Amino acid sequence: MTLTLDAPRIVKTAPLVQIRGVNKSYGSVVALRDVAATVYPGEVLGIVGESGSGKSTLLRMMNLEETPDAGSYTLDLPDLDGNLFDLDRFARRMLCATRIGIVYQNPHLGLLMRHSSSGNVAERLLVAGERRFAVLREKAREALAASEFPLERLDAPPIELSGGMQQRVQLAKAIALEPALLLLDEPTTGLDVSVQALVLDTLKRLQRDRHITMVIVSHDLGVIRTLADRVMVMRRGEVVEVGLADQIFQDPQHPYTQQLVHAKL
Ligand SMILES: Nc1ncnc2c1ncn2[C@@H]1O[C@H](COP(=O)(O)OP(=O)(O)OP(=O)(O)O)[C@@H](O)[C@H]1O
Ligand SMILES: [Mg+2]
Repeated sequence: MTLTLDAPRIVKTAPLVQIRGVNKSYGSVVALRDVAATVYPGEVLGIVGESGSGKSTLLRMMNLEETPDAGSYTLDLPDLDGNLFDLDRFARRMLCATRIGIVYQNPHLGLLMRHSSSGNVAERLLVAGERRFAVLREKAREALAASEFPLERLDAPPIELSGGMQQRVQLAKAIALEPALLLLDEPTTGLDVSVQALVLDTLKRLQRDRHITMVIVSHDLGVIRTLADRVMVMRRGEVVEVGLADQIFQDPQHPYTQQLVHAKL
């Protein structure tokens, strides 16, 4: 057994997520250039960087929604070997449905806006193979309760809910199956400050109580500071710096990180 200084909550070092050499271009736009990322079990990795730096693209890769031009992705889970980018569509879908949860910045990408909130969560359980109606309803209810969604609104469709409530439905859907990896793309952006604080509290509680491994992208360095154990800084498709959150905020090394941190202080 080895120890790492790089992963504060972890004793064993085997990373859950390992991404190496990922490149992705859209026509002449290079979205990701030789990106590597490691996430340890139970930790929260924060990703920051200017608009267009490739953060969402990287998250979509981790959710196997996109395939890079080159690179590898492994998840250290039972029965799972090799480069996940080589999996076919069906295997990807099953893996994402059962082991990876995602909260999109735009709830329209993650939710059926006119179905009931509990139905949105149940749909995820259905895709993973659960067919018993009573179990579906109960598990959906539990996940919504864990996301601090008001249970009297179980039947309300997301389109009738506030932004903060929509994010809670996405979160419930993402955690309904106790994912090994939870991906969050700007989960609090666009919410007003008091609602942001509530969503942040929910995420902190999930982290504390369930030790879910998370990758969170946010423009808001306050959010990253509150949640992340380690921080990865991206610029123009490249990773410019990775470090413990304290180090990144107190002693940033790369000039771009220095600029980013000082601009926000
Ligand atoms: N599907 C796509 N088709 C074409 N170009 C894309 C696509 N997705 C991303 N890009 C481009 O790739 C680059 C990285 O985009 P990405 O959305 O990953 O950035 P981001 O860091 O998430 O930015 P933001 O902070 O604004 O959300 C941008 O130049 C973007 O225009
Ligand atoms: Mg983005």
